[in-house]
Amino acid sequence: MKIQFDEKGLLAGVAGAANGVTRSEYEAARPKALAALASFRAKSEKGLYGFPHLPFQEDMISAVRAYAASVPFEYDAVCLVGIGGSALGAWALDCGLRGPHPVQGAFGPKHPRLVILDNIDPSFTAAALASMDARKTIVLAIAKSGATAETVSTFLIVRDWLERAVGAEAAKRIVFVTTEGKDGKGKFKSPLCELAVKQGYKTFDVPENVGGRFSVLCPVGLLPAALIGIDVGALTRGAAEMTHRSWLPDLEENVALRAALWNWLIWSKKPIQVAFPYSNYLWGTAFWFRQLWAESLGKVRNGKENVGQTPVAALGVTDQHSQVQLYIEGPNDKVFTFWKVEEFASPGAIPARKFGLESVDYLAGQSLAKLIDAEQRATAAALTMNGRPHCTVTLGRVDEEHLGGFLQMMEFQTAFMGELLGIDAFNQPGVEQGKWFTYGLMDRPGYEKYKDEIATLEKKAAAE
Ligand code: PA5
Repeated sequence: MKIQFDEKGLLAGVAGAANGVTRSEYEAARPKALAALASFRAKSEKGLYGFPHLPFQEDMISAVRAYAASVPFEYDAVCLVGIGGSALGAWALDCGLRGPHPVQGAFGPKHPRLVILDNIDPSFTAAALASMDARKTIVLAIAKSGATAETVSTFLIVRDWLERAVGAEAAKRIVFVTTEGKDGKGKFKSPLCELAVKQGYKTFDVPENVGGRFSVLCPVGLLPAALIGIDVGALTRGAAEMTHRSWLPDLEENVALRAALWNWLIWSKKPIQVAFPYSNYLWGTAFWFRQLWAESLGKVRNGKENVGQTPVAALGVTDQHSQVQLYIEGPNDKVFTFWKVEEFASPGAIPARKFGLESVDYLAGQSLAKLIDAEQRATAAALTMNGRPHCTVTLGRVDEEHLGGFLQMMEFQTAFMGELLGIDAFNQPGVEQGKWFTYGLMDRPGYEKYKDEIATLEKKAAAE
């Protein structure tokens, strides 16, 4: 597995003193990176954070594979109901390993479609349901908390749709991925788990120490992946290899730690992080990363200081014709991370035929792989010339092993960055606040005070 990180474009000697980081700043900060590694490792070994352990949980991985291999009915669609960390990992895997939807080909029982119902746009939900045959659909409702209003409400609609088509059989076609078990007072930790027990649905557990955006390698991401035919063994093998590398106290080998350190050194100069994959297959991963970086690092430090870096996803080369003008001449507030792929499934040979037209003929006999590489290097050079710092992650190719390794690298990088920033990268109080307000507005018992708070805020705004 080849995953490399190249920081040269971040150097002050390349991007300019005001925009880059010097080698000596980096050298001086090495001990901080090693301390971040030691601190995170100790917490992970204590069991506080679970994502590093997931690729080694053979029983969990086998249970996912066994279930996917034994579904007792034929399905041509996997309907995933979930949002945020409960949906984005599955999208990253589907897009990365089966391709963006336009190139996925004809769907059927041997090649089922993954339909992700994350948003609650009623038109989208109705159209998505109309596009599937309920008699050939397996439904996955994924929510660690088991209470997220978007997921629960959409699930209730999907459940009804399924039951109308297959009657009592529906119970066998629904699986929940949620927190299993009860708390010390005998109350179910997840309302969806309680519902599963009442209705006889199969469940898979989300470990307590694995948060939503770090959960792609537990059943949250692995179950949908296995159901659409992805080799979850190879995926977790790549992630395991990256985990070994991410524990090494050696910044040359440990790409996650080195990338975190460079990003930490530059973040206060560059509040925006552009994830810039030069591969349509990594587009889903860019959106998965956007959540990981934003929700993990956008925090209040020591009760007073706002920290974090706004992640933006841009697609190479498409966004060269949409965003790059801004990137080159607009505010110099961004750092760019190119995601490059060395080997494509096909080089995209350009026919050698010439037409006697200079602006056409120079391309004859070359390849799209060469062109995409040239365009990425050209964009990097243009950024450098304009004092815009950038770095590059290179993947040998996009297959199960590399994608598993890359996702795990990004999770480690985020965890290390959280340590360096001195914040808790694993909570999300800002998201929870929004959830409570929604419960209040939707009249969930116990949340009345949030409805009153919103009424007060809205009254105040109306009076302005
Ligand atoms: O990363 C997180 O914890 C969040 O983004 C959650 O994934 C998201 O809010 C959905 O939560 P749940 O899985 O409980 O429905």
